[in-house]
Amino acid sequence: MAFNRDIKIAPSILSADFANFGQEIQAIETEGCDWVHVDVMDGHFVPNLTFGPPLLAAIRPHIKTVMDVHLMISPVDEYIEAYAAAGSDVITAHIEAGNHTHRTLQAIRNTGAKAGLALNPGTGLDDVEYLLDLVDLFCVMTVNPGFGGQKFIHSQVDKVKKLRAMIGDRPIHIEIDGGITPETAPLMAAAGADVLVAGSAVFKGGSVANPAPYGRNIRAIRDAANKVLG
Ligand code: DX5
Ligand code: ZN
Repeated sequence: MAFNRDIKIAPSILSADFANFGQEIQAIETEGCDWVHVDVMDGHFVPNLTFGPPLLAAIRPHIKTVMDVHLMISPVDEYIEAYAAAGSDVITAHIEAGNHTHRTLQAIRNTGAKAGLALNPGTGLDDVEYLLDLVDLFCVMTVNPGFGGQKFIHSQVDKVKKLRAMIGDRPIHIEIDGGITPETAPLMAAAGADVLVAGSAVFKGGSVANPAPYGRNIRAIRDAANKVLG
């Protein structure tokens, strides 16, 4: 996983056909996505329940790009190894998930995975300064986590601008998660984001039998984002 700041589109399989993950992943990758975003929810940190490590291990052989795993779980530390063993390339934990984020990030890096740190919309940047050297990716939530298909929260554009300035030359990705469409993607690309997660906006209109809309949706988001970068 060589670092660059090119725009990367990461479809969230939360919006895929749950009875058909292997083919859905093949379809979005064939149609041009860069990463595959996997939303893990525990019914406690967020009010929804999704995927455990065996499901991730089962889909891993179908992913040729990057398995980008977003853990919306608390506690998180005791599950990191299992999600790493399932083949995660990036493991993102929430800063709100516990009191020892520094230790959590160290534990993720110790597995060999890239360490991501997610921030809920209401969380500020005050507590990230002394974590910068342990982070490979910041995930800025532009919805309250738990569900796909929610409305983009505009106040987060300003947060991303400030975060981008804090990061400076460090090789840290800024990922945006929630409500990304061809309309909202340019705001975040201009603010300094490089990884755009999109669930409903990628999967709408398509299916494994008719994957062309996935490609059109991915291109529409990517083109809109790249347009403002010049
Ligand atoms: C929300 C998840 C997101 C979500 C994005 O808790 O972390 O990844 O699936 O879905 P859309 O793009 O539909 O907002
Ligand atoms: Zn997510």
